[in-house]
Amino acid sequence: MRVLVTGGTGLLGWWLVKAFLETGFEVHATYHTRKPLGPNGASWRRLELADPADVARVFEEARPDVVVHAAAYTDVDGCERSPGLAYRVNYLGTLAVAREAARRGAFMVYVSTDYVFDGERGLYREEDTPRPINYYGLTKLLGEASTAALPGDSSLIVRVSGLYGYSPTGKRNFGVNALEALLEGRSVKAFDDQYLSPTYAPWLAGAIAKLVSSGASGVLHVAGERMSRYEFALRLAEAVGADPSLVRPTPMSSARLAARRPRDSSLDVRRAKALGITHPPAAQAIRGFVEEYLRARTEDPSTL
Ligand SMILES: NC(=O)c1ccc[n+]([C@@H]2O[C@H](COP(=O)([O-])OP(=O)(O)OC[C@H]3O[C@@H](n4cnc5c(N)ncnc54)[C@H](OP(=O)(O)O)[C@@H]3O)[C@@H](O)[C@H]2O)c1
Repeated sequence: MRVLVTGGTGLLGWWLVKAFLETGFEVHATYHTRKPLGPNGASWRRLELADPADVARVFEEARPDVVVHAAAYTDVDGCERSPGLAYRVNYLGTLAVAREAARRGAFMVYVSTDYVFDGERGLYREEDTPRPINYYGLTKLLGEASTAALPGDSSLIVRVSGLYGYSPTGKRNFGVNALEALLEGRSVKAFDDQYLSPTYAPWLAGAIAKLVSSGASGVLHVAGERMSRYEFALRLAEAVGADPSLVRPTPMSSARLAARRPRDSSLDVRRAKALGITHPPAAQAIRGFVEEYLRARTEDPSTL
């Protein structure tokens, strides 16, 4: 089986490439601006999602049975400031991927986001009505619609939340920023009024590979347990034995953000659990993250 992973240089994409290689797939992966650093064994191509002809070329070369579309313009504030770019990459790019998948009869997995919800309630189920409050969420929701238009059970939309993990390509995320600060004895500001379901990226990648192999389709929430960003940072401090007072609770309103954030975009994951997909307990996943981070910093990423 041949899989095409878009966004292989991203936080999740890198771990997806690794997970599919370990599952025995022939892996084709794409990058955009950053040179791919392994894992060894995948075939890499540059892709510009905003150019439908480029999407068609990559499909022609990779001829995938499955495409896992993880690439996106993920800078939430950047999307608000550059809505045209967000529209071209997240919506039109996903539409082009879905069209190529349909044309070639490839199964499509689309990695979507908790930010399709307005965050007024939290613990959202798959059938709850999305109502994005920022441009990133809106363009990702349009990507969902393009994916859901594929025939029958030929697609899977996986909504995830607050990804954290070590990224061998150097991609920053809240988890890595907080971990580095705590390890260096610096303070960390963390929102205590934003709730989500922090999800460990390497685990998520393995879960997606498992879902593809089991033939799951439709919409699925795959994420960790609900907590605030502040609680997450506190747990990280606990995992590295740092002074918890280094973690400073901060209201979202204190940050000058271009895009509004949902107050509580946590996800209800009961459907995934029923399929045997269960995120490890937060303490265990966070410990795994810290160990991976400390180990990986000393190794050549292509050999991880
Ligand atoms: N991070 C989160 O907390 C979170 C939460 C919910 C959902 N998600 C979704 O999960 C997926 C993975 O997120 P992530 O955090 O792993 O992403 P990421 O680290 O920001 O990586 C994004 C990837 O997309 C590629 N890319 C960006 N613009 C592109 C373009 N115009 N054409 C082709 N490729 C392009 C990047 O390539 P280069 O690096 O080579 O430029 C990179 O490989 C995304 O679909 C995101 O919407 C993320």
